[in-house]
Amino acid sequence: MTGKEAELEKLAQIQTEALAALADVADEGALEAWRVAHMGRSSAVMGVFSRMGSMDKDLRPVMGKAANEVRQALEAALDEKRQALEAEALSRSLETEKLDVTLPGRPVRRGRLHPLTQVLRRIFQIFGDMGFQVYPSPEVETDDYNFTYLNMPPYHPARDMWDTFYTKTEGVLLRTHTSPGQIRVMRARAPEPIRAILPGATMRYEQLSARSEIEFAQVEVLVVGEHVTFAELKGTLDDFARRMFGEYARTRLRPSHFPFTEPSAEMDVGCFVCDGHGCPVCKETGWLEILGCGMVHPLVLEYGGYDPAVYSGFAAGMGIDRSTLMRYRIDDIRHFRNNDVRFLRQF
Ligand code: PHE
Repeated sequence: MTGKEAELEKLAQIQTEALAALADVADEGALEAWRVAHMGRSSAVMGVFSRMGSMDKDLRPVMGKAANEVRQALEAALDEKRQALEAEALSRSLETEKLDVTLPGRPVRRGRLHPLTQVLRRIFQIFGDMGFQVYPSPEVETDDYNFTYLNMPPYHPARDMWDTFYTKTEGVLLRTHTSPGQIRVMRARAPEPIRAILPGATMRYEQLSARSEIEFAQVEVLVVGEHVTFAELKGTLDDFARRMFGEYARTRLRPSHFPFTEPSAEMDVGCFVCDGHGCPVCKETGWLEILGCGMVHPLVLEYGGYDPAVYSGFAAGMGIDRSTLMRYRIDDIRHFRNNDVRFLRQF
């Protein structure tokens, strides 16, 4: 054998041994070790390159070419092996980590609307059907809007009934009713006719009890136009009560007093717990008060920018909390804002 043949023979053997070792490789770690051993700096093939300088001149190109071919062959074999290992790992994970799409899913608990929101939405729907618009109004008000423009000047004794929380800013307070919204709608719309409802939170400085809380929700009703009469007030509110509490709901108007309406009344509905026979919910009277109402006072119309000689209107204010208590026969108003899911889940 010539020197050249011997060298070529050695190269062929390096390749054969490397490929044989590769066949035994079973995972990524072993593959990396194989690469270092058979293709790394101190591997046999690389050794051929570093010995090149000491070889015969005519042997060098032959050996260079042959060694390169071996290196390329090993590289190709390495790639192929790597792909094979990856494919194997994938099919193994598909096999063992099977996803059973027929398993029942984790149940998602359905949320529900707060009972006050449910009642409020029903009220929106009823008044919406009658052509009313829903109007937003601020919960933080000025003394003027909450009292003065509603015909309660600073000395007026009726202010005591609607005492409230005052901010550190002079003349700014938390509104005690949604009625200040009347002035805001009027000022925004005058002299156009108005049919609006104004929902929202109201606050009162009050003793906490099963019937009262410092925060509660109201909806204000306001109609302003030419020739609006008390008959329309009664017709609208009667119709509302029947849609809200049932076709056979009975209503009655009792004379009352509010500084911002003249004449004023309160509306009761026949108690639907006892059907008018008398029970603890209606305090044995057979009737439940649901709202205050009346014809908008001329002075209030004027503050709103309407000439009381030409325009008239009616207004009503109802408490949503009390209506909701009645509707669901809830025994304590304080449940509404406690955020106790055991209570809320029942609606
Ligand atoms: N604002 C009154 C209250 O909170 C209710 C009301 C509104 C009365 C509109 C008449 C007209 O008690």
